Amino acid sequence: MADYFSMDAQQRGEELERLRKLYRELAAEGLKLDMSRGKPAPDQLDLSMDMLKIMDYRGETGIDSRNYGSLEGMPEARRFFAGFLGAKAEEVIVGGNSSLNMMYYLIELGWRQGFADSAAAWNTYAKPKFLCPSPGYDRHFRVTEYFGFELLTVPMLPTGPDMDVVERLVCDEAVKGIWCVPLYSNPDGYSYSDETVRRLAAMETAAPDFKIMWDNAYGVHHLSDHPDRILNMLEECRAAGHEDRALMFCSLSKVTFPGASVAAMAASRRNIDYILKNMFPMIISYDKLNQVRHVRFLKDMDGLAAHMEKHRRILEPKFKAVLSLLEEGLSGCGEIARWTKPNGGYFLSVYTHEGCAKRTVQLCREAGVALTDAGAAYPYGVDPCDSNIRIAPTFPPLHELEEATRLLCVCVRIATLEKLLEKT
Ligand SMILES: Cc1ncc(COP(=O)(O)O)c(C=O)c1O
Repeated sequence: MADYFSMDAQQRGEELERLRKLYRELAAEGLKLDMSRGKPAPDQLDLSMDMLKIMDYRGETGIDSRNYGSLEGMPEARRFFAGFLGAKAEEVIVGGNSSLNMMYYLIELGWRQGFADSAAAWNTYAKPKFLCPSPGYDRHFRVTEYFGFELLTVPMLPTGPDMDVVERLVCDEAVKGIWCVPLYSNPDGYSYSDETVRRLAAMETAAPDFKIMWDNAYGVHHLSDHPDRILNMLEECRAAGHEDRALMFCSLSKVTFPGASVAAMAASRRNIDYILKNMFPMIISYDKLNQVRHVRFLKDMDGLAAHMEKHRRILEPKFKAVLSLLEEGLSGCGEIARWTKPNGGYFLSVYTHEGCAKRTVQLCREAGVALTDAGAAYPYGVDPCDSNIRIAPTFPPLHELEEATRLLCVCVRIATLEKLLEKT
């Protein structure tokens, strides 16, 4: 097969006809497949069913978890998440069923009232701003958009956000923070390099109350014998003299049951005291029964790692299948696309030739394969290059994933040829 970029218009037209025929045949199969949902498959959820049999409610220090109290979380749950996040137990708040909910609360707190190190609430700025490494997690961006922040796009590199851009943007006092998914980022699956972490921790920011929203959502979701490792943001911030800058989050949503697990955050003692004081009017205590149940089930970091191995056995073949079918379906025709090859997490990105992502997603949808909308991983839903497609291989069964990826490759090829023909 020839390189699409060196073909003349006639050759491109012939290749397009051949692919359209193939596309029509695939579409005629009446596919109804979905590669858009970043959630565990049912057999992954089955791995945690035994947890529901745990009736024990008495905490290790005698606390009756059925009752009100201990807003900061059960002691054993604080210790567990201290291990997960790399903090001390007293630097941890164990919350309810959603880390996104905790992040939303803290953005709202900064916006409405500011933090302990704020000169003023963030809403006193005409237009407070937030840095959004992109592509990134759409719901992060949505939280800050909802409160009226201006979203500033920072290009995402394989080492994390482009730090030259970040360091330039934080010279503006209205820039109040940055969203980060530091390990196996959503959707590229990139992990932050040590240099990126250290620069984020050490950089001088015009805002004294600049916050790093460090969402370690995929902190234990490895898919390789050689998992990525990241530095500890709280420790690095402390070492750089900015210990109130880091707000770290995680949850067990993709460990046990999304929407019915336990979330936690870690930060400096000053931040934790301030946050607990401000949570007080909102809630008496989170679901401590669920906290105890999760710790009894997963036990400790070794228990958690063993449980995640079971997830890996289900997920790794799916990621491998997608990667090898992309290789097979998109090679031999020039550099029409590239894709990321994560060592963990829940997603990978396919980058099409510029201006072809939307059309690819549309072609897939019309043939019965749902993908996340092109642009969804960028602030305001707009990918300036119209190139990124988020692939979520976890939920569909393997055979569906294979069919969907084959169709995706045909659609990427068609969209590329259409674009090239437009120009000739
Ligand atoms: C990066 C990231 N953070 C947070 C969440 C949601 O976490 P939770 O269920 O704890 O609210 C997701 C879910 O997909 C995610 O991808």
